Amino acid sequence: MGRVYLPQPADELRQRQAATLRRPRRSYSRAAKALFLVMDALYGRAGSLRKYRVLEIVARVPYQAWENVAYVAITHTSESPRFARDIHDRVVAVRAQQDNEQWHLLVLEEMLHTSGHRHTLVRDRLLPQLIAFMYYQVSWLLYTVSPKWSYRLNADFEDHAEHEYMTFVADHPELDDTAWVSAFADDYGHHDTVGDLFRSIGNDERLHKEESEALIAAARFGKPNS
Ligand SMILES: [Fe+2]
Ligand SMILES: [Fe+2]
Repeated sequence: MGRVYLPQPADELRQRQAATLRRPRRSYSRAAKALFLVMDALYGRAGSLRKYRVLEIVARVPYQAWENVAYVAITHTSESPRFARDIHDRVVAVRAQQDNEQWHLLVLEEMLHTSGHRHTLVRDRLLPQLIAFMYYQVSWLLYTVSPKWSYRLNADFEDHAEHEYMTFVADHPELDDTAWVSAFADDYGHHDTVGDLFRSIGNDERLHKEESEALIAAARFGKPNS
């Protein structure tokens, strides 16, 4: 398993945006709804670079928690090579998702910096770390009790992020007239406009969601460590 997050052409991204906007949201769990409520209360209901930066800080956390648990599992299953291999493959996939979220974060940090935003101590530094810390604990705990609970929470989170980005572009057509110039374009992928960049990030979130949904389905069929 595992995907490579290849940049898609602009017309393909527009089709994927339209598909997301047509698709109903998942039926979010109470834990996911609570998280979205906190984010809205602290950073506003409307989308913004500032809010999305926090979203990306939090987005990496479940993958880190899963990786942590998987490493412990590998240590205790190394006598069963097939099982250990299975977990190792999962770690590789999880790391790819984590890296992808990291590029989202770096790109958004860069855009905020360019826009002249200066981070404040509480809302931009302490609170995001606090939310991420608590979300890590929840993800870790759910994963150790039943991985599919943690996958479900992540699928909700990714579905929310996918819709947030795709809706944000639809609400801000001026982004399609704004050129995207970035020091990270060679790493993340080249996009002509900020509109296409956000469509691409939204598309990545959809892929993350689908990977978690696939893991939920695999867990129902009792695959190892799922
Ligand atoms: Fe992301
Ligand atoms: Fe994501």
